[in-house]
Amino acid sequence: MTNVAVVGATGYSGAELTAILAKHPHVTITGLFSSANGSRGPVLAARPDLVAEPFTLDALVAAAPEVAFLATPNEVSADLVPQILDKGIKVIDLSGAFRLTQPALYPSWYGFNHEHPGLLKEAVYGLTEMCNGELSKARLVANPGCYPTSILLALRPLTYILDREQPVICDSKSGVSGAGKKSDLAWSFAEVSGNFKAYSVGTHRHEPEIRQGLRLGDRATLVFVPHLLPTVRGILSTMHVAFTHAVTNEEVQQLYADAFANAPFVRVLPAGKLPELKSVVNTPNAEIGFQLLQSGKRAVIVSVIDNLLKGAASQAVQNFNRMCGFKETEALA
Ligand SMILES: NC(=O)c1ccc[n+]([C@@H]2O[C@H](COP(=O)([O-])OP(=O)(O)OC[C@H]3O[C@@H](n4cnc5c(N)ncnc54)[C@H](OP(=O)(O)O)[C@@H]3O)[C@@H](O)[C@H]2O)c1
Repeated sequence: MTNVAVVGATGYSGAELTAILAKHPHVTITGLFSSANGSRGPVLAARPDLVAEPFTLDALVAAAPEVAFLATPNEVSADLVPQILDKGIKVIDLSGAFRLTQPALYPSWYGFNHEHPGLLKEAVYGLTEMCNGELSKARLVANPGCYPTSILLALRPLTYILDREQPVICDSKSGVSGAGKKSDLAWSFAEVSGNFKAYSVGTHRHEPEIRQGLRLGDRATLVFVPHLLPTVRGILSTMHVAFTHAVTNEEVQQLYADAFANAPFVRVLPAGKLPELKSVVNTPNAEIGFQLLQSGKRAVIVSVIDNLLKGAASQAVQNFNRMCGFKETEALA
């Protein structure tokens, strides 16, 4: 059995994570934590024995986890991760605090200076399907953002045929839980219900993560437009791309088949068939579909995930399973 703790277990993604870990046959949950002034009490209605307590580093160390999951705000993770690693505890961090490899990007995109550039180099970016053996050796995993997961799964297999002289346009729509439980007025029921809007164009902090993940460099044009869907969970990303040469359906399908040959949670639909949110919400799965345009010079690609699962908690458990040598599907399928 592997002892684990969850910091931020009382948040949206932390509670999902706790629910998955609670049914993991090789896991003992030894600590669940809210913020220092947070509530004590059961995290899951179905498991009154799994109780969160206010976080202190001493309490975490006393819980003796081999792996600590952090489902905490970016600044909190940036502060806590080095302290937890120093105690010899491995970390899977669901925040963005260790996702970007360049420390210089943090002040402008995240609003704080990054004090641990060495850990940015060390962190394994945990887009599970694009990792090889590195997760098994990792001490720190930076779990990807929800929007980047939906976009990178769909576009990474095609990076070699992407025309970087043409803009890569990612039009993404997320349910409201993407903002976590401490949402402001813009994310409240009265504002969101019956409404649909774009937000944070050109300023969303997932933009540099997507650029980094696609190896786009500084020159290629990336247009990322997040939208707020009047639904609780799920992300649908529509991507508009051009290719360096005209491609066929078979070529694109082969690239996806190669990339996802051993990916139990990714399904690529037949050419011309596009996925819907309802196929993946409340599941750890991602679905991808594409439609070629202009005789194969361009494509519209659509991908869907559940932001709280493949975009956060279930992907964290996929990474944990690989880190510990368990079956990737353990507790998830
Ligand atoms: N929501 C998503 O779809 C999603 C997807 C991917 C990644 N993420 C990332 O995952 C992280 C958590 O997101 P969320 O949406 O689950 O947030 P959330 O619902 O707002 O929950 C935040 C959690 O962090 C705890 N916390 C806050 N400050 C803390 C501190 N100083 N020390 C210890 N714990 C503290 C909170 O405890 P209290 O209950 O006491 O406030 C709560 O349990 C964020 O970094 C977010 O960017 C979220």
